[in-house]
Amino acid sequence: MKAVVFDKYGSLENLRIEEVPKPEPKSDEVRIKVHAASLNSADLQLIRGKLSSRVIAGLLKPGKVIPGIDVAGMVDAMGPDAIGCQWGQEVYADLSEYGYGGFAEYVCVPKSAIAMKPKNLSYVESSAVPMAATAAFQGLVDHGSMLSYRSAMIIGASGGVGHFAVQIAKNYDLQVTAVTRTENVDFVKSLGADYVIASDQVDHMNKRDHYELIFDTIADISARKYRKMLTRDGKYVACAFSPSAVLQSPIGGILSNKRIVTFGLHPDMDDLATIRNMIEKGNVRPRIDKVFSIEDSIEALRYLADRKAQGKVVINMES
Ligand SMILES: NC(=O)c1ccc[n+]([C@@H]2O[C@H](COP(=O)([O-])OP(=O)(O)OC[C@H]3O[C@@H](n4cnc5c(N)ncnc54)[C@H](OP(=O)(O)O)[C@@H]3O)[C@@H](O)[C@H]2O)c1
Repeated sequence: MKAVVFDKYGSLENLRIEEVPKPEPKSDEVRIKVHAASLNSADLQLIRGKLSSRVIAGLLKPGKVIPGIDVAGMVDAMGPDAIGCQWGQEVYADLSEYGYGGFAEYVCVPKSAIAMKPKNLSYVESSAVPMAATAAFQGLVDHGSMLSYRSAMIIGASGGVGHFAVQIAKNYDLQVTAVTRTENVDFVKSLGADYVIASDQVDHMNKRDHYELIFDTIADISARKYRKMLTRDGKYVACAFSPSAVLQSPIGGILSNKRIVTFGLHPDMDDLATIRNMIEKGNVRPRIDKVFSIEDSIEALRYLADRKAQGKVVINMES
């Protein structure tokens, strides 16, 4: 089968498209014929050899690694213990805890990693959902206590995670202030945000004691500054890695009820089912910026690295 591989950390130049053996499912695994795979920042971190990613692929030097976290496709083979799975099931999955491998024509994953894909989405659209939407959902609901608030500020609202965060917050009837760059204002308005601030033109940090929940997918400004913008019982949730949030997090609740939170998502089938429900009701929809073929997947990763995408970038294995 065709796959995107690398065996040296560093730059995207180390990637190549190769013919590799088609994987066989272990006893509790299913094999997915991948129809589409979406790109995530975590793929770039793996390829570049960020320390936290080396746990997956090897501390000093990776083996031959296939990146790719988010896939949508069809179950085409099963191990004997993959009970309940059937040939032809249309599924999507987040492979971040299962060794990646999605940028290939086939991938094997534990049956517990798959969920039925939304009926009203194509494979290309479905592949855009798992990691980004789960990060938005878990960040807002589990870590951000969104259900106890009425308003939220979402920073980096046009990105993979951010564009789901806006829609998920609106699904729960929050008033959403979205922060984005000027070129993405119209896109973010189209997601349903109530207010959109172009942060390259207007200071989005000029309000004190104002926001109940701030969800930050960029985290390039100190969490301490965002803390001032929170209401008395407000929460700041850093989705992107934020050293200042990590430092502030333990002391956040001592001086006041304002909290600073960081989190790492865990793939969760129940959360994917909840997200599927929102999608099938028409309240949430992935936005696809660009679709590439597997032959052009290195160019696709370069495009993601340039941070120009509105929503998600996808590799369509069928094209
Ligand atoms: N905690 C977790 O478990 C978890 C899970 C998934 C992802 N993440 C992290 O969340 C972050 C966002 O991920 P993502 O997949 O949404 O990334 P993405 O699709 O690349 O989006 C990032 C967004 O950042 C904004 N941005 C800020 N400064 C920028 C600049 N100088 N140039 C270009 N864009 C800039 C842009 O949005 P605007 O134009 O709207 O500002 C851009 O769309 C990443 O750091 C990722 O590692 C964390």
